[in-house]
Amino acid sequence: RTKELEEKLSKLTTTSDKTLRSSKWLNRADDKAMSALYMDRYLNYGLTREELMSDRPIIGIANSGSDLAPCNRHHLTLAKRVREGIRSAGGIAIEFPTHPIQESSRRPTATLDRNLSYLTLVEMLYAYPFDGVVLMTGCDKTTPACLMAAATINIPAICLNVGPMLNGYDKHTLIGSGTVVWKARELHAAGEIDDDGVTEMVTKGTPSAGHCNTMGTASTMNALAEALGMALPGSAAIPAPYKERGQCAYKTGLQIVEMVHADRKPSDIMTREAFENAIVSNTAIGGSTNAPIHLNAVAKHIGVKLDNDDWDELGHGLPLLVNMQPAGEILGEEYFRAGGLPAVMAELLDQGKLHGDILTANGKTVRENVQGKHSWDRRSIKAYDEPMIKEAGFLHMTGNLFDSAIMKTSVISKAFREEFLENAEDLNAFEAKAIVFDGPEDYQARIDTADVDERTILVMRGTGPLGYPGAAEVVNMTAPGRLLKKGLKYSLPCIGDGRQSGTSGSPSILNASPEAAENGNLAILRDGDMLRVDLTKRRVDILISEAEIQKRGEDLLADGGYKYIESHTPYQDLFRREVGPLSEGMVFRRAVQFQRVAQK
Ligand code: FES
Ligand code: MG
Repeated sequence: RTKELEEKLSKLTTTSDKTLRSSKWLNRADDKAMSALYMDRYLNYGLTREELMSDRPIIGIANSGSDLAPCNRHHLTLAKRVREGIRSAGGIAIEFPTHPIQESSRRPTATLDRNLSYLTLVEMLYAYPFDGVVLMTGCDKTTPACLMAAATINIPAICLNVGPMLNGYDKHTLIGSGTVVWKARELHAAGEIDDDGVTEMVTKGTPSAGHCNTMGTASTMNALAEALGMALPGSAAIPAPYKERGQCAYKTGLQIVEMVHADRKPSDIMTREAFENAIVSNTAIGGSTNAPIHLNAVAKHIGVKLDNDDWDELGHGLPLLVNMQPAGEILGEEYFRAGGLPAVMAELLDQGKLHGDILTANGKTVRENVQGKHSWDRRSIKAYDEPMIKEAGFLHMTGNLFDSAIMKTSVISKAFREEFLENAEDLNAFEAKAIVFDGPEDYQARIDTADVDERTILVMRGTGPLGYPGAAEVVNMTAPGRLLKKGLKYSLPCIGDGRQSGTSGSPSILNASPEAAENGNLAILRDGDMLRVDLTKRRVDILISEAEIQKRGEDLLADGGYKYIESHTPYQDLFRREVGPLSEGMVFRRAVQFQRVAQK
């Protein structure tokens, strides 16, 4: 470290001898009776007064695992090793459950609960005597919910991922969780497998404890937590059942106590530079299109300016280095053995694409954590100059159909480029007829009878944060069975105001804002309208006149606006009143006004 770097870092955090936050509860000089009352019930399970009054850091273990949340359930075991780490370093662990979020079974959609889990975690961390917290992450939305809460509260915090599942197999063929669902749907629609075949194929993708073993939203968000510096280097990719996972839990417990002593807080780590590192890393790993939503949300909560233009400007022109499904071939075990995120970041650092001199959870810089950690396995993690794809990041699209949408280019297949784009004047722009569905139920009912051909754009609307509360993960749509039976080799392009699973490989334009439910122009689109998609200009336009757009908009409003399903629970109603658009992270507008609340 140079002297300047030392100075820069020491300005961020200083080892302080200030009293612990928990002493406001447990060791009050002004009111011993109150401290006794606060402390009293924690003695009930065997903690002693001496422990609680000895000014040892009280560390929360925010456990997101339960029977209801199987992806994260292994945390019930890992928490024991976290405790041992905390105790070995002289801290006291207090474990508590977070609001569970299970991606694959929560109806109507798990994203609805990201903000609920965030809110409840903020309340717990604010209201109880915590000096620091270990955030137990994993399944898609659990990770951003934790990071958002850490950002708002701003006490020392570190993420511990549950880790991906082991590889799934069908004989020698790798079967990736999540990704296999889309494959099975296509084979079923084409009549190649029956109902039983779907179940058998899909369940082969999930062989053990852990989160999805593909580069879906879970692997992505945990990699980005690590890229931000909010987890131990190399921790995100360790498969759940591996011995290194338990060892990592122990080391994370040790680390959080050190972080409390050093007063190293989320605001010292999650700086603008850290978010830029995360965007750059997201391209190289082939990360999920849910990442901009979640990372923009975390940034909003910590007060860093970040938007979808940053994703295009910083991320689009970079290469895809990780050969992992859905964009590539491998699954979590190979990725881990090949070196995981540090091996990816080592490539990016060499090329000057990362901010190397910023602080991470372990007190070291990004450079100190990743330099020289290149992969030995060039099939799994490519060298920077021999990538999977040269320009693999997201495009930030705009136009007269919406103001903002994200397109993931790394999953556009060779077949799509060669066959769908064949008649277009250039490879980056095309015109096609739209067929419009109002939500997934309408899609199911009409996909086989609607006028869909090989050159149709499938449009899904009514599925944004307001329309389908929480924004449904349904924009990736399978072509009708009759086209698949004819041998359609590519996925039809899709556009929508909802989201797409990070495990899907469709060339889709997603997260379109404003959504139809806000009476954005998606709401006036009709079956048969022509759309022009121009990737170079980053535009999607309806090819109808300005006057016609105006007229349709007025008619829609005169008719009472776009109709969407009513709220079925109190929280759905509250969510709809508070939420902002996907382009801005789908945060609660009033929640972002509260920042660094532990310091208040
Ligand atoms: Fe939980 Fe994929 S469904 S990680
Ligand atoms: Mg998902």
